[in-house]
Amino acid sequence: MNKAPDRYAIIGHPVAHSRSPQIHAEFARLTGHPLQYDRIDASPQQFTTLLREFLGSGGRGLNVTQPYKEEAYALCHVHSPRAERARCVNTLYIQGDSTLVGDNTDGIGLITDLRRNQHVMIKDSRILVLGAGGAARGILPALLSEAPASIRIANRTPKRAQHLAAGLRHQGRASGGGFDELRGMSFDLVINATSASLNGELPPLPRDLLEPGAVCYDLAYGERPSLFMHWAEQEGASLVLDGWGMLVEQAAESFLIWRGVRPPTATLLALHPH
Ligand code: ATR
Repeated sequence: MNKAPDRYAIIGHPVAHSRSPQIHAEFARLTGHPLQYDRIDASPQQFTTLLREFLGSGGRGLNVTQPYKEEAYALCHVHSPRAERARCVNTLYIQGDSTLVGDNTDGIGLITDLRRNQHVMIKDSRILVLGAGGAARGILPALLSEAPASIRIANRTPKRAQHLAAGLRHQGRASGGGFDELRGMSFDLVINATSASLNGELPPLPRDLLEPGAVCYDLAYGERPSLFMHWAEQEGASLVLDGWGMLVEQAAESFLIWRGVRPPTATLLALHPH
């Protein structure tokens, strides 16, 4: 008798446009691991119930996306060290009978895309992270662990950036402030972790932020380049990237956690829409 495939899912709100099911279906094909990967669209009222129902009914693992990464962190009994540092999770599974374990593969996904796929040097570079919400929090510990020269966090609400930087002080050199304070500063790597791109908006960035050879990376991905990516082109960035590579690499790390094998990512990376 054929065993039913192991079940996984992504939970968030909204999740209709998530490409994770397609990515994990390809990983399943490439590794020969039969599995089913669904989307769970959960309203804030439903989130905890649907998460528990899925894992309680035999679901083997979950990816968590916006806006629930912090809430999922709070529900977990055990956190991996990298989830602990980021204080948010994107990968969940049950250990033993009922221990809910939370991990975070966003940071390693970004680093792998930058370093291995794009050959971008992070060590000793001056990094600017735009935004101080959950997306920024998820990647900052991993960036700091690569020993950059410095990390500046800039946010529309400056206090949030200052607060986030203060919380990271023991992990490396990070400072925070508003967009205005960026005048006169320059960077080798600029990462857009605001949700502005999702609304077709651009953070108010001063001119001349980019060092020669600078790389710009939008964590968001879409059918077309974002306003931030257009801005980066106009400002003379040498490389302008969106978050497709990070999405694929964080998914591969989740697959590794769940299945014990890291799938190859090249075919999916090549599917990049632009
Ligand atoms: P996420 O979990 O996706 O990071 P979030 O926690 O709501 O979502 O954070 C969204 C981030 O995008 C915040 O840094 C937000 O700035 P504020 O803290 O000032 O709200 C930023 N953001 C959203 N829209 C923006 C815009 N149009 N311009 C600049 N920053 C924007």
